Amino acid sequence: MRDTSAVAFDVYGTLIDPIGIAGEIDRTLAGGRGQELAALWRSKQLEYSFRLTVMHAYQDFRWVTDRALRFAAASLEVELADEAARHLIDCYDRLPAFPDAVPALAAIRAQGHRPSVFSNGSPDMIARLLDHSGLGDYVDQRVSVDAVRQFKPAPAAYQHAARSLGVPVGEVTLVSCNAFDVVGANAAGMRTVWVNRTGTAYDTIGAPPDATITGLADLRDVLRNH
Ligand code: 2OP
Repeated sequence: MRDTSAVAFDVYGTLIDPIGIAGEIDRTLAGGRGQELAALWRSKQLEYSFRLTVMHAYQDFRWVTDRALRFAAASLEVELADEAARHLIDCYDRLPAFPDAVPALAAIRAQGHRPSVFSNGSPDMIARLLDHSGLGDYVDQRVSVDAVRQFKPAPAAYQHAARSLGVPVGEVTLVSCNAFDVVGANAAGMRTVWVNRTGTAYDTIGAPPDATITGLADLRDVLRNH
């Protein structure tokens, strides 16, 4: 991948582990179905982001995250009082970073890159997440789709990211574990690195990623050799 200083990282699922909230769910809600509820919560959160964008009915990611939590609890018939919901949404801003995130950001900064983040998360969610996890020290710019009120993979979101980073869209390398994000970034003209942490099959729509890695530790070599 041609050397570029504009490397943009997706946040939830790539730098930060949304399923990492499962333990807090078990501590907060009766029923002990933290992993199952966290997974359903995440999938519904993304589904709502797609649907609200197609409907031209944008709400920010904190609102979407709240609605998805309430759906997941209702689906699993787990009682969710408003106070517990507020607590879990607050904990969503303190999700854990993946262990390979800080070392990878430090390594590519040493290569001369200016890593940024580009996320569905609202600006306050991104700020609190990065500051709590310690990732903020390694990130130049923080770009949220909120400014264009369209979630990924809407083309407008990627075009906004490139404008915010001050480079042509083709000079941005998007790093993401979310295949839908990689497909969308490819279609918008970005270069892409798919972080396939779980060995899943890639999507059968859109172009393949420019590079695929199984964890962020391999990113430095990919950025150097492609
Ligand atoms: C993010 O935008 C796709 O949720 C993921 O951070």
